[in-house]
Amino acid sequence: MNEIDRRHQEAIEKAEASVSQVREEVAKDPRRMKYHLMAPAYWINDPCGLVQFQGEYHIFYQFNPYSPLWGDIHWGHAKSRDLVHWEHLPIAIAPSEPYDTHPKGGIFTGCAMADDDKIKVIYCGSTWAGENLRQVQCLATSQDGIRFHKYEHNPVIPGFPPEGSENFRDPNIWKHGDTYYMVLGSCKDNRGKALLYTSKDMVDWEYKSVLAESDGSLGTMWECPDFFPLDGKYVLIFSPMGLGKVKGLYLVGDFDYESGTFHWQTKGELDYGFEYYAPQTFEDNSHRRVMFGWLNSWDWMPWFTSFGPTVEQNWCGSISLPRVLHLDEENRLICEPAEETAALRGERFHWESAVLLPGSRFIRDRVSGECLEIEIKWDILNSSAKQAGVYLRMGEEEKIRTVVQYDLGTQELSVDRSQADNCSKGISRCTCLPEADGTLTLRIFADTSCIELFANGGKSCMTNLIYPDPTCDGIEIFCRGGSAKLLSLDIWKLNPIG
Ligand code: FRU
Repeated sequence: MNEIDRRHQEAIEKAEASVSQVREEVAKDPRRMKYHLMAPAYWINDPCGLVQFQGEYHIFYQFNPYSPLWGDIHWGHAKSRDLVHWEHLPIAIAPSEPYDTHPKGGIFTGCAMADDDKIKVIYCGSTWAGENLRQVQCLATSQDGIRFHKYEHNPVIPGFPPEGSENFRDPNIWKHGDTYYMVLGSCKDNRGKALLYTSKDMVDWEYKSVLAESDGSLGTMWECPDFFPLDGKYVLIFSPMGLGKVKGLYLVGDFDYESGTFHWQTKGELDYGFEYYAPQTFEDNSHRRVMFGWLNSWDWMPWFTSFGPTVEQNWCGSISLPRVLHLDEENRLICEPAEETAALRGERFHWESAVLLPGSRFIRDRVSGECLEIEIKWDILNSSAKQAGVYLRMGEEEKIRTVVQYDLGTQELSVDRSQADNCSKGISRCTCLPEADGTLTLRIFADTSCIELFANGGKSCMTNLIYPDPTCDGIEIFCRGGSAKLLSLDIWKLNPIG
């Protein structure tokens, strides 16, 4: 074992020992998610390094193994055969070298690629020299998909180009022909940018161009850019800072490999909820484009109040369900839960063709639960109601509930969590048109502390965290101001992933 590997191994063992001390206690918290991926304990943020390697899916994540708050960032690691059931693996990459070790830095977000029978990772080493942020790009490889070796001549990109600034992170790579391409998040003069590099061997990288940048209206810094071909176009997703309510954008257009520039025509939001940030995608062996996001928000976001009450239980953050991406005929991004999520389904309840009246207690006495999938298809055209929707996580006291609502007049979809518990605040909203045939389909995945909502097959997504008491498990379908026609309703109890 060389010196670099030895230092790395020591850092991993120390971090693992820290996690072991609290792991069992953390597992007892009733607010732990039942089927969303979390770290075994402590803090988690961005998913990174998504890759399918020797048939298995690998996910890494930003991980602080010493505290339920951000800092000292490592790469946690888990793998899965089906994108839904995860097996925790030892920490993959730990800070151990001067270029990637700092209490307010570490092994920042990056990407992975299965190449030459290895997993090759490019990550951002983030440190501070006094007041100066130093973000460099580094290579690590693994033959067995578990133990990672840092490249001895790291960093492979030691500094930012004139078009960027010291905020220079979140490398994401792909291969086209015999060339590797890397897109990086950066900014200059308060404009977010995605910078492009190329390489023939993943070691020598050459700066090529600004792939895309804000014109002043798309954020001050672009985090976690991800650039990929999809359904005949190219898509850039990124997590903009300084853009008010908007914290996940996609651009769809055409890419010119010669000049390294992206000409986009369409843009949209990735998720309208409060807690869905820093998503990353990968292409799996069946050529699907799959996306995972981080379920929490940063303290710089306008609606932020806290990282949530689970911090007191020594854990914080989780990873979304896998979403499969497509473009529709108007080049809007569609994000649908991967079909593998059906593996979570337990007991099913099914209704068809019902006309709902205000105040009817349609479901309440028949189904309840914290962990449910609900699919509800409304005939909007033939409904006179002003609003219709679902109450989730209802308590004994009727006013405790989370409200998923569609307003038929304003065509606004919303999730109101202001009465969910004693800490969650805010109503997330988006405009959502019924389908051409006058229907609206809502698909809801409720887990212990989160709700992922998909409207019309993934045309709009909305993800929010909530922290009700486990005893608040009532649900009800409601309408107000008239009747609402239900074409079908399916509810599945979802099984824990263990
Ligand atoms: C996004 C982000 C990234 C960075 C990482 C640090 O949530 O800020 O830009 O690499 O988190 O943990």
